[in-house]
Amino acid sequence: MATKAKVKTVFFCQNCGYESQKWMGQCPVCKSWNSMAEETVSNVKSPSSPGKGAALKPSRPQTLNSIEIVSEDKLTSGISELDRVLGGGIVKGSLILVGGDPGIGKSTLLLQVCRNMAGDNHELLYVSGEESLKQIKMRAVRLGTFTDHLKLLTETNLDLISAAIEEMKPEAVIIDSIQTMYNESVSAAPGSVSQVRETTGVLLRLAKTLGITIFIIGHVTKEGAVAGPRVLEHMVDTVLYFEGEARGAYRLLRGVKNRFGSTDEIGVFEMREDGLSEVENPSEFMLSGRPDNASGSVVTCCMEGTRPLMVEIQALVTETAFGFPRRQAVGTDYNRVNLLMAVMEKRVGMHLQNYDAYVNIAGGMRVGEPAIDLGIVMAVASSFRNRPVPADMAVIGEVGLSGEIRSVSQTLQRVHEAERLGFTSIILPMESLKRIREKTEIKLLGVSSVADAIDIL
Ligand code: TYD
Ligand code: MG
Repeated sequence: MATKAKVKTVFFCQNCGYESQKWMGQCPVCKSWNSMAEETVSNVKSPSSPGKGAALKPSRPQTLNSIEIVSEDKLTSGISELDRVLGGGIVKGSLILVGGDPGIGKSTLLLQVCRNMAGDNHELLYVSGEESLKQIKMRAVRLGTFTDHLKLLTETNLDLISAAIEEMKPEAVIIDSIQTMYNESVSAAPGSVSQVRETTGVLLRLAKTLGITIFIIGHVTKEGAVAGPRVLEHMVDTVLYFEGEARGAYRLLRGVKNRFGSTDEIGVFEMREDGLSEVENPSEFMLSGRPDNASGSVVTCCMEGTRPLMVEIQALVTETAFGFPRRQAVGTDYNRVNLLMAVMEKRVGMHLQNYDAYVNIAGGMRVGEPAIDLGIVMAVASSFRNRPVPADMAVIGEVGLSGEIRSVSQTLQRVHEAERLGFTSIILPMESLKRIREKTEIKLLGVSSVADAIDIL
């Protein structure tokens, strides 16, 4: 080899952005299969394109004392659930990634932010690479009235977008979505890891040098066909994920990373005809419509990130009509339900083998935490014996194969959440109970085996 090649090809994991010189069947970092794709990257830095160079000011080191923090640095989005997840509001000049499955409501959420902020006389620019101006207008009509402080742009060429931003100097920009944007100096296709990285880099410089807040919308796809926004998580200040069942009405907005606040908070929204509406008391929302005194219904507390959320587990156990029992789990792991029922047969002597069992997490939630095990067991037992669990009793605990109840994480937080919602007693692992030092209003019922817990029924 005489000369050094200027362009080389490398392989990027399209899911997490891992870079490798050779192709691999499985990504060693995120363990996803078949996610490595070849992309060309140039060795030499391309001469600064307008987007890169224009916004760049000479860098001058400063002392900490010379930097002023003004308290008005946070703007309100007009949506308190979003402000809370952001750590109290939108920080000026920050780069915020809003990720989520297609169709979950990312564009709707940010258009609502635009409506609120434009209503407060803030200058905003919404750049869409996905929808036509007409389509955006049609959506906007459902959301209410907009002032002229919001400008729309349909464009995917980043250089043109940068130029528009520099000319207009809005306070906030929405990029919908990062996967449609491209930078001419990168040869890879829009949505590829190198393209997504490069575009985000340009946006980052724009945000920091002009003091503009930039929201980046990113689609997450399970197939890994489009570069997941995970690739850019480390580049942005804040990462929010919008999730939920596309068919269900509720949506969770979860902070995954936040340089300006904690990531403990989740925001809960409901998708309505006229856009997303906030749900201020999520546990209450999850438990609304719960039947009183019905057998097979048990309330447990799972952790959503680090925030406790009360959910209702429902079980229906009926005699099987076909000799081979049917088992079904909605919102939780099917195999886990089977395992728990096997434990109940073997360790408690409940003869479930001739019964069909259906387990459902109400409200369309998906919970995979082991702390809900005991809740599932109690729900099944309650339906089997046709004896309701008291409506003001909550249940938490992980179940082991010998029928022992294992301790769960963040017990105290769960207990407090149950207390806050007016539950008067909670069944919890004996091990966890021993570690609780403070006095609680709620009655703590420690159990060390499945049999103990079922005896309480
Ligand atoms: P959208 O914001 O386009 O999702 P994303 O940008 O994440 O891909 O949301 C699309 C869904 O939301 C679509 O299925 C229709 C629904 N929707 C409502 O139910 N009510 C509304 O007021 C709006 C605007 C959308
Ligand atoms: Mg969209």
